[in-house]
Amino acid sequence: MAEKDTELIHGALITKDPAKLRLKPNLQGYDNLRKTFKWSDADKMVEWFPGGKINAAHNVIDRHAKGKNANKVALIYDDGEGNAQKVTFKQLYEQTNKFANVMKKLGIKRQDRVFFFLQRSPELYVGFLGAIKCGAIASPMFPAFGPDAIRDRLLDSSAVCLVTDSDLKKRFYEVKAQLPELKHTIIVGKDVAPDELSWEKEMAAASDKFETVPMDPEEFMYLLYTSGSTGKPKGVVHAHKGIVEAHLTANWVLDVHDEDVYWCGADLGWVTGVVYGVLGPWSNGVTQVGLAGRFDPDRWYQTIQNYKVSIWYTAPTAVRMLMAKGDDIPKKYNLSSLRALYCVGEPLNPEGVRWAMEVFDNKPFHDTWWQTETGSILITNFPEMPIKPGSMGKPLPGIEAAIVDETGKVLGQGEEGSLALKPGWPSMMRQIWKNPAKYNEYFRNGWYYTGDTAQIDKDGYFWYVGRADDVIKTSGERVGPFEVESALIEHEAVAEAGVIGKPDQLRGNIIKAFIVLTPGFTESDALKADIQKHVKSKLAGHAYPREIEVVKTLPKTRSGKIMRRLLRARELGLPIGDISTLED
Ligand code: WTA
Repeated sequence: MAEKDTELIHGALITKDPAKLRLKPNLQGYDNLRKTFKWSDADKMVEWFPGGKINAAHNVIDRHAKGKNANKVALIYDDGEGNAQKVTFKQLYEQTNKFANVMKKLGIKRQDRVFFFLQRSPELYVGFLGAIKCGAIASPMFPAFGPDAIRDRLLDSSAVCLVTDSDLKKRFYEVKAQLPELKHTIIVGKDVAPDELSWEKEMAAASDKFETVPMDPEEFMYLLYTSGSTGKPKGVVHAHKGIVEAHLTANWVLDVHDEDVYWCGADLGWVTGVVYGVLGPWSNGVTQVGLAGRFDPDRWYQTIQNYKVSIWYTAPTAVRMLMAKGDDIPKKYNLSSLRALYCVGEPLNPEGVRWAMEVFDNKPFHDTWWQTETGSILITNFPEMPIKPGSMGKPLPGIEAAIVDETGKVLGQGEEGSLALKPGWPSMMRQIWKNPAKYNEYFRNGWYYTGDTAQIDKDGYFWYVGRADDVIKTSGERVGPFEVESALIEHEAVAEAGVIGKPDQLRGNIIKAFIVLTPGFTESDALKADIQKHVKSKLAGHAYPREIEVVKTLPKTRSGKIMRRLLRARELGLPIGDISTLED
């Protein structure tokens, strides 16, 4: 704790002068709210159907389309080349109604799984929300996914429908034969085969009138696969009730106001893209920017300038990449529209917070902490609160967070331990799809164990320490070592593989693989490059090992499990700890 406290003592605290804030933060009186807030207060911020029913999509779209926001721009979509398309709440309402009718016509039943494998596009937003309207469970996938990643998800969840496009469908067709339960493939674009459905034609033929299906709050809304330390990705299931907290946190944390233009850069394949690139902000009726394309500093600053973005939600790796490109680029643009900046996904270095103050006219990044499983931001630096650079901030009112040990004992200030939460908030995952055992692993001694380790300081601020498990966070993306190892050993030259996260200045961590070669193969740069290519094409563009080290043997337990902990300790020169279970 010493180092972190020093920073505070030396006055790194970023205080805020309420008189200088452009808008009064929605959340006022944090300390008091911590004591008085009840979740039933948040229930009142969203609309319910008679009999306690709800539909998240009604809150996100319909209620605005039927009210004063009907002709307000909901989405400013930029195709990545600077070409903008504006879509109003009313237009989104009609489009999502159409897609819900397409679902109905295809016989998609309540709680059927409908997947989206699309680049960010208006169709992605429309399809995702249209599926939710009609009671299906929607699941977007990263466009970077390779065939194995696609197959694992569609197979595990018994998906019945996939929406993809003319380009991306090639990767899906490599595994389609292994997906007997998939009944419908809808294609956005011109290249539509006879056994596929054309998005364009189906949408043109569908009515724009639809009665959004009232759901039980506990019925499922969306499903996202994420990685753990062992096994294949797990399907994290979220209920319609989650909209309550998505709404509340967009309001209290991201602080969206009617006049804001809000931009979240996250892909919908990531929970951030779903909750804060669709659900929360639109539930509050705010205009959102959706930018297609890859990281490009000029394009990003232009986006802020051209659309007068006032709230920006991004990730630490992106911040570090922008920092690395230098301060001359932002100077070329008028970024004065910005009023609040937020970050999520991995530790945000204090330098990043301070850099933002310099480049964005005294506006710091607010770090936010949460997980796919938590369904919304739970620990954060609130707009009205002083920021301690490097800290994740404080728990949302209604959330009890603590640092505990393995027995569930609550640890004191400055002690390092497991970051744990008292279960029961509205946006909490409801299941791991078809895997109750995995779900139950999260809960011990009355706590939800996040898998992170952290500390609390004397002022109640939380500080991230690391992961308690083998999960890798690379450029903010969550990658399971097992998936990478599995893909690696599918390569003919790889007999065995062990994968770890290796700290990296820019990306937080990179994926490093230790491999044992199959007899007959010799180490070379060409071979390593081929292995990397193989993992990329199988799994995902971002989930490949940037470093490969050939070793003679891998450390294993007597039962044959690779000891990644040991690989990591060796790589980083850390103490190797207990090795009593080591094979030899
Ligand atoms: C990490 C992301 C440090 C953490 C929405 C967590 C963070 C995992 C922060 C969840 C933060 C997220 N500081 N680490 N502010 N936010 N993490 O499911 O390890 O992709 O458990 O959800 O990201 O990753 P996921």
